[in-house]
Amino acid sequence: MGEKRISGQIKGFSKLSRDQKLQWLSDSFFENGKEAIEDFNRFRLSDPKTQKVLDGFSENTLSNYFLPFGIAPNFLINDKVYAVPMVIEESSVVAAASSAAKFWLTRGGFRFEIEDVEKLGQVHFFWSGNPLQLKELFDRELCEILKEHIAPFISNMEKRGGGVRNIDLLDKTHELDNYYQLWLSFDTCDSMGANFINTVLEECLKKMKIHFAETDYLRNGPQPEFLMAILSNYTPDCLVRASVDCPVSELQDASLTLEASEFADRFYKAVRIAGFDKFRAVTHNKGIFNGVDAVVIASGNDFRAVEACGHAYASRTGTYRSLTFCEIVDDHFTFRLDIPLALGTVGGLTCLHPLAKRALELLGNPTAKELMGIAACTGLAQNFAAIRSLITTGIQYGHMKMHLDNILNHLNASDDEVGKVVTFFEGKTISFNSVRNYLEELRCRP
Ligand code: MEV
Repeated sequence: MGEKRISGQIKGFSKLSRDQKLQWLSDSFFENGKEAIEDFNRFRLSDPKTQKVLDGFSENTLSNYFLPFGIAPNFLINDKVYAVPMVIEESSVVAAASSAAKFWLTRGGFRFEIEDVEKLGQVHFFWSGNPLQLKELFDRELCEILKEHIAPFISNMEKRGGGVRNIDLLDKTHELDNYYQLWLSFDTCDSMGANFINTVLEECLKKMKIHFAETDYLRNGPQPEFLMAILSNYTPDCLVRASVDCPVSELQDASLTLEASEFADRFYKAVRIAGFDKFRAVTHNKGIFNGVDAVVIASGNDFRAVEACGHAYASRTGTYRSLTFCEIVDDHFTFRLDIPLALGTVGGLTCLHPLAKRALELLGNPTAKELMGIAACTGLAQNFAAIRSLITTGIQYGHMKMHLDNILNHLNASDDEVGKVVTFFEGKTISFNSVRNYLEELRCRP
């Protein structure tokens, strides 16, 4: 059958050299291909060794996509002060985290607790025999056989104090005909452990297949159909509880335009609304993830896994709710975040990405639990700062002030122009158009 070529389609793209890839893209997609190639080249590192490391993280890499690496200093967390590294592209986030950190620095700081770091994985399979027989087989020999088989794969992790905690068989035939799960729980110590978990799960799948095919009395019965083996990114047992608290009167601050008690009351109401209204809860939690993700990315962890898990946890009751809670009891204000975070500080990108390594060094090379706590406290700080702005000045006040820099950069404002624009907009509403118009007017002045 003749192959129909659609414009923009290519065969063997991955086999092309980087230059060939760029040339093809420039010919096919860009109006000014020469300039596009220059941009891609401009963002490559001049140090070939480090560039090779970055290229190695992904496939078909052409260049680097830089994000700002910022610092939120003065984070007092469990009695230790951290300068928290944050990688994020949104203006105001690092400033907000820093201001919340400074606020709580003199009010006892942030605290966190972690009960457990259990991670989970599943082997999904189908079997058409009697469920009771499968359960009996599992209890009698299969579980032990699997444990023996995976022993060499987990011995290193066991030496570090972790390993496989439990192997279970779950009958899911009420959900889907003949469907079962092998359910494994893990302790992966300071590593996120995705590769370790997936290796162990795949070994379990392989061994079960072999056992059914090679054991005389099982060979002639129904054979399992194995579908897949993969970790679960839902890790509710990696729960971090982060909190701040102080007497309501201590919420008073020079920059606060309200009485402390009114502030506490409005703050409480804002958090309550996010506790039942999902339209507000999603935005509220998004603000929490502004802080959490920035630390997760800076430390070379997987922010997609963290987000997916966090949002599933936020909807565990059947309704999507706020991840933070506020309580005012006997004039004492408490603000808390409960968030599952499966993070690692060894292995993977954490030790490959040069800046992830520096981020961890900045934090004193923390354990996984410590990093989980720091990320959660940064999320709580972010939520505190966002709500404080929302219920007082409104979010645009701080946002647009920070955004002014981006607008001025975009409009190629000179240092002199920046000074004049900043002075002019002091206390005024900032928008892209208003800044552009004022700048145009400035530029027309003789
Ligand atoms: C913006 O990135 C985050 C906020 O919308 C969060 C919130 O509304 O709570 C300010």
